[in-house]
Amino acid sequence: MKYGFFDDAAREYVITRPDTPYPWINYLGCDDFFGLFSNTSGGYCFYRDAKMLRLTRYRYNNAPADIGGRYFYLKDTPAVGDTPTADLSLDSGVGVGSDIGACGGNMNIWSPQWQPMKSQLDSYECRHGLGYSKISSAKNGLEFSQTSFVPRGDTCEIHKIVLKNTTSAAKNIDMFSYVEFCLWNAQDDMTNFQRNFSIGEVEVHDSAIYHKTEYRERRNHYAVWAVNTPIVGFDTDRESFLGLYNGTNAPDVVLSGASKNSIAHGWSPIGSHHIKAELAPGEAREFVFVLGYCENPEAEKWESLHVINKSPAKALLEKYATSEAADRALAELQAYWRELLSIFTVESVFSSAFAKTSSRASSGDTAEESTDYKKMARMAGVWNQYQCMVTFNMSRSASYFESGIGRGMGFRDSNQDLLGFVHLVPQRARARILDIAATQLPDGSAYHQYQPLTKRGNNEIGSGFNDDPLWLILGVAAYIKETGDFSILDEQVPFDNDETLADSLFAHLKRSFDFTVNNKGPHGLPLIGRADWNDCLNLNCFSSTPGESFQTTANFESGIAESVLIAAIFAFVAPDYIEICRRTGRIEEAAYALSELGKIQKAIDSHGWDGNWFLRAYDAHGKKIGSHECEDGKIFIESNGFSVMAGIGLDDGRAEKALNSVRDWLETPYGIVLQQPAYQKYHLELGEISSYPPGYKENAGIFCHNNPWVTIAETRLGRGIRAFETYKKICPTYREDDSALRRMEPYVYCQMIAGKDAARHGEGKNSWLTGTAAWTFTSISQYILGIRPEYDGLRIDPCIPADMTSFTIMRKFRGTLYEITVDNSAGVEKGVRHITLDGEKINGNLLPAKATDSEATSNAAGGDIDGMNNSNEKPCKVTVVMG
Ligand code: BGC
Ligand code: NOJ
Repeated sequence: MKYGFFDDAAREYVITRPDTPYPWINYLGCDDFFGLFSNTSGGYCFYRDAKMLRLTRYRYNNAPADIGGRYFYLKDTPAVGDTPTADLSLDSGVGVGSDIGACGGNMNIWSPQWQPMKSQLDSYECRHGLGYSKISSAKNGLEFSQTSFVPRGDTCEIHKIVLKNTTSAAKNIDMFSYVEFCLWNAQDDMTNFQRNFSIGEVEVHDSAIYHKTEYRERRNHYAVWAVNTPIVGFDTDRESFLGLYNGTNAPDVVLSGASKNSIAHGWSPIGSHHIKAELAPGEAREFVFVLGYCENPEAEKWESLHVINKSPAKALLEKYATSEAADRALAELQAYWRELLSIFTVESVFSSAFAKTSSRASSGDTAEESTDYKKMARMAGVWNQYQCMVTFNMSRSASYFESGIGRGMGFRDSNQDLLGFVHLVPQRARARILDIAATQLPDGSAYHQYQPLTKRGNNEIGSGFNDDPLWLILGVAAYIKETGDFSILDEQVPFDNDETLADSLFAHLKRSFDFTVNNKGPHGLPLIGRADWNDCLNLNCFSSTPGESFQTTANFESGIAESVLIAAIFAFVAPDYIEICRRTGRIEEAAYALSELGKIQKAIDSHGWDGNWFLRAYDAHGKKIGSHECEDGKIFIESNGFSVMAGIGLDDGRAEKALNSVRDWLETPYGIVLQQPAYQKYHLELGEISSYPPGYKENAGIFCHNNPWVTIAETRLGRGIRAFETYKKICPTYREDDSALRRMEPYVYCQMIAGKDAARHGEGKNSWLTGTAAWTFTSISQYILGIRPEYDGLRIDPCIPADMTSFTIMRKFRGTLYEITVDNSAGVEKGVRHITLDGEKINGNLLPAKATDSEATSNAAGGDIDGMNNSNEKPCKVTVVMG
């Protein structure tokens, strides 16, 4: 069942009914200010840090779901003589198409966004676009539209509202706005009621409501919620607006039609405007609402005693005082995204499996664009990269599954996320790398997480995840391959945020590399520490106390538990480390690294192979994990995908055997599960992995992040059909028709899909903030379509299904725009016969970079918009003939 459709031309997902199987959200904001925005305007916004500086309140895990947002209520007052139909009973309607209910079904008062009244609307649509969303609905002859976004460079949400009378009679409309303020620290806000109920403070001035809780003491910032039109009333006290025993689905003020002009003193401050709009037949009126964050310098906090200095707010409101200004800001935002996504786009994909009639097929083509491949093009070209930018901005902090108060920036997560956006915002990626590296500890290990505001390592979690350091090599190598900017290696970067311990970024890479070299166990494989990539394989934890954190508990120090996955990650990143050493003249270090790589490869060969697949680990007693000898957990995905990615077993058939075993044991119609058989019992010696019910999360769920490792591994075997099959299974657009089961947004990847042991096999969870975004983009762009940045240029090495007869990619790389057309009329899965660049044949399959390193660096660093250059230039034409 579908709940909408992709409007590919507009790059929007259009939701056609409000009662989606889960709230389907979008992210507003690109820089410092962000909003989570659901298809019924639910969600919240924050400045830079979702925990510390949250502007509006949101109740996670609420029933009903997704209550709390930027709401508008409409009241259509009948002309004198008409019978009012207001029915104040508290039942709500059940949604579009249903007539049940009072407020919801009421003809005179409704929620044009459907929530929170669940109003029965005559029409409804929500378009989630890149950085903005639009909700449109109609009822009672009144059209409503809301366009919401965060303008570039400003710290506010804009909500442009249009009301249009489509009847032939005049209408008297009352519109009430509603937001509920969060008292800044979101954790405190939902726990410390003995204090919070006494501290809320507001001011109201003209049409602006100011939320200034804690401003008198240590804060120098406040929020403003304003509209560019005179108001007839307002409310700032939640209880006055709603009534103590009412929900947002039946606010007293809206039902009675009159604001109370309440001023909040403690309790819960809110912001509500009351606007009266008389609309002649056919008339439309526009309103610009701004929800903003403002700061004052310490010395200029006050206008007078208890009166805040409103000048930054006034400047902000002045800037967006007209619809035209709001429209312009939206157009700028759209241009930003257009430019950004022009760096990598999939222009067309043709397939021989389809009819020969396409008008778009160029002459001589006997194929047409297949729906299957079009779906891939829309994901790879637009939505997957969009999600990568969201993971860049959010890491794992704020989604509808991450509460925004818990996890900081992950060391391993942030490094892997880089793979998905380094081509889009190289300069910001560079800064991110330096931030991450500064939290590394002097012995090469790393704080597992750091806080975005302080950029300091997070002591509560500490270090001890022994895979962490290696991901820094992955991230830095990806940055250099994209930009050619080796100068990043010379940047002086602190250890543990301590400037006195600063050394070059290269020195950080060396300590990362050496950390693995120096921390090996009895089989010469890397010690796992608290866990490796799989946070739930806690082999030194031995926790039997309820509530104890699996992530931080160390009741046992074995010095024995080893990870084959870390060995494989090492084998995957070591060639980059070696290459970086060679290219920077560190010849001896390169030789040393090569010999260490050899040792690890040997250890995997001798102790990491189980006969038909790669082992996963050794536990603290030296017992195998992920072996046919085990009762449960005989085979795992991670060590198999990564070992083959690292090239292990390619020459002796083990790689093929391993991937065939993965296919036979782990593959399902919805993706590849993490291991089999699922653990049925809790294992003290394994930790959290065995705590999950079979089929969920790391216990044999489809943990999507590691599926693209298998896809990439398949391309190393040259199996293009298999690679594409594994790619498709977790790709959301292919499951759009199955949304009732999958439940998550059809335009984004989720972290986890319930595995075959689960009661709800195929159901997705944890959409948006997942390393799946970066790795799937890497798998499709670099390994299937095969456009792969390397130190000297772009490697062109597709590995595709044989029926993909041709495709065209636009790719900007180090300042040059390439139009790359791959001709696979030969019908192969892999292999490049020859390439021409602007008509000239080149040697091999590497497109040499045109810019020198330093030009590339200034390209990467320069320009108004990060990563963009020469947007109107003529592309260099590249023709690739496979065969
Ligand atoms: C989850 C992991 C996650 C870890 C750290 C565990 O409960 O299963 O996926 O990485 O928590 O937050
Ligand atoms: C989610 C975490 O963010 C990531 O760091 C980890 O690798 C996976 N869970 C697997 O446990």
